[in-house]
Amino acid sequence: MRLEGKSALITGSARGIGKTFAERYVQEGATVAIADIDLERAEATAAEIGPSAYALDLDVTSQNSIDAAVAAVESRTGGIDILINNAALFDLAPIVEITRDSFQRLFDINVAGSLFMLQAAAKSMIRRGSGGKIINMASQAGRRGEALVGVYCATKAAIISLTQSAGLDLIRHGINVNAIAPGVVDGEHWDGVDALFARYEGLQPGEKKAAVGKAVPYGRMGTAEDLTGMAVFLASADADYVVAQTYNVDGGNWMS
Ligand SMILES: NC(=O)c1ccc[n+]([C@@H]2O[C@H](COP(=O)([O-])OP(=O)(O)OC[C@H]3O[C@@H](n4cnc5c(N)ncnc54)[C@H](O)[C@@H]3O)[C@@H](O)[C@H]2O)c1
Repeated sequence: MRLEGKSALITGSARGIGKTFAERYVQEGATVAIADIDLERAEATAAEIGPSAYALDLDVTSQNSIDAAVAAVESRTGGIDILINNAALFDLAPIVEITRDSFQRLFDINVAGSLFMLQAAAKSMIRRGSGGKIINMASQAGRRGEALVGVYCATKAAIISLTQSAGLDLIRHGINVNAIAPGVVDGEHWDGVDALFARYEGLQPGEKKAAVGKAVPYGRMGTAEDLTGMAVFLASADADYVVAQTYNVDGGNWMS
């Protein structure tokens, strides 16, 4: 077990990739806070995972909510060893149809939410003085623009940049900040993405999903399980000398 005795907080882990990370972290010996805006689902997920997981009500757009979640982890486990900034929202529109509301919501959750969650966790880690690991969820979308995905791509490019800045600033406290850039990962999230593409590109439901899967050099869409090895590595002592990096785990979709 590579995360024995560690305390982790994973945002947006009631479902999807975050939930799979939580399951794997518990198998590796960690205690995990399932922190999500959907508390009911977070509670169901925690119950499904078992006694090493517990649900936390968290809205990453609210500073009070972030501070309360950090305090709850501190009082329950003594501190945060690992944070995964995983909660995010997706939207899609041609450039001439992007609304300020959509732009604001995506930047509030994906960028400001990740930054201020990272800040609160880092302050807690610094107070405790034992270092820590912070993993941000970027995306292949952050590596380049996409015609219909302008705002989401920009939020993920911001995550890659913030990972570099925070990684360089916090390593003096023994806090490693790194990121994972997945490609296309099957799950409820991609069902929503597929429906949006169907609307804007005039496709049948499932058509976009099949096409993106076929285009992956590995030969299929990714699964959340495909990402867990990197998530465990970056949270473990094996990654102590890894600083401010973003790793592509995408079946070969992007070279960098
Ligand atoms: N699925 C993919 O293909 C893919 C590809 C690249 C990157 N990613 C990234 O991986 C991460 C996880 O993706 P996923 O597919 O599991 O997404 P998902 O939509 O399935 O899960 C997101 C979770 O975040 C929660 N959430 C939303 N707003 C929140 C808020 N304000 N505060 C707290 N929680 C909130 C949701 O309730 C949900 O449980 C995201 O950062 C996403 O951008 C996903």
